[in-house]
Amino acid sequence: ELEWALIPPGEVSQVDGIVLEKNICNSWDKIWNFEAKPDDLLIASYPKAGTTWTQEIVDLIQNNGDIEKSKRAPIHLRQPFLEWVRTTNSGIDQANAMPSPRTLKTHLPVQLLPPSFWEKNCKIIYVARNVKDNMVSYYYFQKMNKGLPDPGSWDEYFETFLSGKVVWGSWFDHVKGWWKKKESHPILYLFYEEMMKDPKREIRKVMEFLGKNLKEEVLDKIVYNTSFDVMKRNPMTNYINDVKMNHRLSPFMRKGVTGDWKNHFTEAQNKQLNENYEKNMADTSLSFCMEL
Ligand code: A3P
Repeated sequence: ELEWALIPPGEVSQVDGIVLEKNICNSWDKIWNFEAKPDDLLIASYPKAGTTWTQEIVDLIQNNGDIEKSKRAPIHLRQPFLEWVRTTNSGIDQANAMPSPRTLKTHLPVQLLPPSFWEKNCKIIYVARNVKDNMVSYYYFQKMNKGLPDPGSWDEYFETFLSGKVVWGSWFDHVKGWWKKKESHPILYLFYEEMMKDPKREIRKVMEFLGKNLKEEVLDKIVYNTSFDVMKRNPMTNYINDVKMNHRLSPFMRKGVTGDWKNHFTEAQNKQLNENYEKNMADTSLSFCMEL
């Protein structure tokens, strides 16, 4: 705990107006020039939208529901985090060293995705979560993760988040940008709230998108093993060895619900957000469910 407190908070810079971790910006050429392969699968999302959940679902589908195989390594080693950069390792190096078919993860907004993914026509799964819960989840994540800047107080963070000056950019631009791209590229666009409502239906969608055909009982097994409670107990999906994360302050698997924003938003903040939402979402057919 004391050691964690001494780690300096993450530094940021920008690429094309998008705030990103400084070490990502410093390696930008290498990231932008990444060479995707036609059989790569990419899982893309705004941070805290349900990425890890989707990743584990995909891994289990690929392994025909074999739990032991999915426990072969922590999630970030099974599916490299494309733009992740540390002094000793990077997502790109990990991906380059990995045999195909590869599954990769990114939080990049659509305009910053390395062009080879489009050129190679890679399959992409995008997962989105309603802005209110996404914001609350991100606030706690920035508090517990020294890889990112300190979020300040909830009131401060609320303003920062709405201004779009958070790491990986504006939530609005992110979800809308990927939604639009769906018109011209094979993207399966998932929603956290739909996964909560009917996990089996959504898992089946992923299975079909991946061109797999699994028995009902295998699907049921995947539903069970990707439930919040089971994933919370799974050391391979919790980033327990990341020294920058303080899980005692806020666990990686924090609450896993829809509607937790009600415990955080003041009435005034809710009004402000709703107004902001109307304005920002006026030019898209995309819509979200804020409570179940
Ligand atoms: P909360 O902070 O609201 O609990 P990401 O993987 O993109 O970082 O997203 C993390 C969020 O997804 C956290 O939200 C986490 O609890 C939630 N989550 C992870 N696995 C989940 C699961 N199996 N079911 C529901 N929510 C899950």
